[in-house]
Amino acid sequence: VNLIKIAVIPGDGVGPEVTAEAIKVLKKVSELRSNAIGGVLDFAEYDFGGKAIDTQGVPLPQATLEACKSAQAVLLGAVGGPQWPRPVDANDASKGLGPRPEQGLLDLRQELELYANLRPMSFASDSLLKSSPLKYEVAEGAEFMMIRELIGGVYFGKRQETDANGQAWDTTEYSVDQVKRVARLAGLLATAGKEHKKIHSIDKANVMATSRLWRKVVTETIEAEFPGVELQHHLVDAAAMLMVKNPRALNGIILTENMFGDILSDESSVIPGSLGLLPSASLGGIIDGKSPIFGMYEPIHGSAPDIAGNGVANPIGSILSAAMLLRYSLGREAEANAIEQAVRKVLDDDELNGYGMRTRDLGGECTTTQMGDAVVRALGPMLNGLNAEDL
Ligand code: NAD
Ligand code: IPM
Ligand code: MN
Repeated sequence: VNLIKIAVIPGDGVGPEVTAEAIKVLKKVSELRSNAIGGVLDFAEYDFGGKAIDTQGVPLPQATLEACKSAQAVLLGAVGGPQWPRPVDANDASKGLGPRPEQGLLDLRQELELYANLRPMSFASDSLLKSSPLKYEVAEGAEFMMIRELIGGVYFGKRQETDANGQAWDTTEYSVDQVKRVARLAGLLATAGKEHKKIHSIDKANVMATSRLWRKVVTETIEAEFPGVELQHHLVDAAAMLMVKNPRALNGIILTENMFGDILSDESSVIPGSLGLLPSASLGGIIDGKSPIFGMYEPIHGSAPDIAGNGVANPIGSILSAAMLLRYSLGREAEANAIEQAVRKVLDDDELNGYGMRTRDLGGECTTTQMGDAVVRALGPMLNGLNAEDL
């Protein structure tokens, strides 16, 4: 049999807890749909983040990097925690310092050239909206795909930890090519469906040089290559306000740089009600919108040290990331949809099947594993229901 290699890097805190549930779901897909996916999913785990610092002294061991590079896709949990409070860049072993777990994640994204991070906020189902921190009428109908540039900007600019004069600095850098390739992906996704989606590009062009470059290159790329697509520019401060005042106004594609995307995607999770719900896909290479591509898949949340070890983390973000893995790296839209439907069913359907399940972050009492098991249970019939055309 053909083995489809998935590198698994569960990381720290709740990372291993939520990743285990995503793997359960993928194993079910592998079991029932191996003909369709063209092989059997083969999972191998590697140390990463704080765990790798403890066992091997560095957050991104060479063996982990190589395993990720030779896999068809990577499934990641989360990294970081108060146990590893080291400066990001100071790599001075003589002072007992080394890179933080988070630096391992940045290095991995860069090594794998994952320049686009897709963070969909498309899961605000009716039953979730009833308990959204936002008013139902405000949150209703909001749906967007955020595309965050992932290997540029202030995350990768030159940095100085506090020096002898008590000064520290970070620099934001972007090149034309870096902006162009992610703008092109936004154009592709905007034109992928029957109806063209609107692109909302978010920057701080009233202050930052990199944002003025961003705005110019995004405008030129979309006008030249995707002429039918509507493009609106927003300043990030006003966009952050709009996201909770009237999130429907941002429906479509949100395109933004690395740090703004980090911040705004956590904010967007307030619409469906929890950070634990949102998935992501980090993609690289040449993306044509059709061929399967290498990618790394992770929930948008972190290691959640405040709840880690209690078995109460919401695994939905991780499970929906597994659906994105099937969609983008294995080209399996039908199975990805089935997972998304199974998640909806488990969240929504409370009368017929006793679902309507909620983990603690959403006000319920369901555990991490109960949630994962329920999704697997709901998924079986949906996968069996896929017909011959879906093969
Ligand atoms: P966090 O995302 O870990 O947690 C923020 C809040 O959301 C916490 O109250 C947490 O309990 C809750 N939360 C997060 N995920 C949840 C889930 N699945 N279910 C229920 N509740 C959930 O952010 P933080 O506390 O600011 O950061 C903790 C650590 O995680 C830091 O070291 C940070 O650098 C790291 N981090 C890593 C990633 C990543 O690996 N991709 C992402 C964000 C933060
Ligand atoms: C995320 C995280 C990371 C980021 C950190 C852990 C480096 O917050 O994936 O959203 O800022 O990109
Ligand atoms: Mn983040």
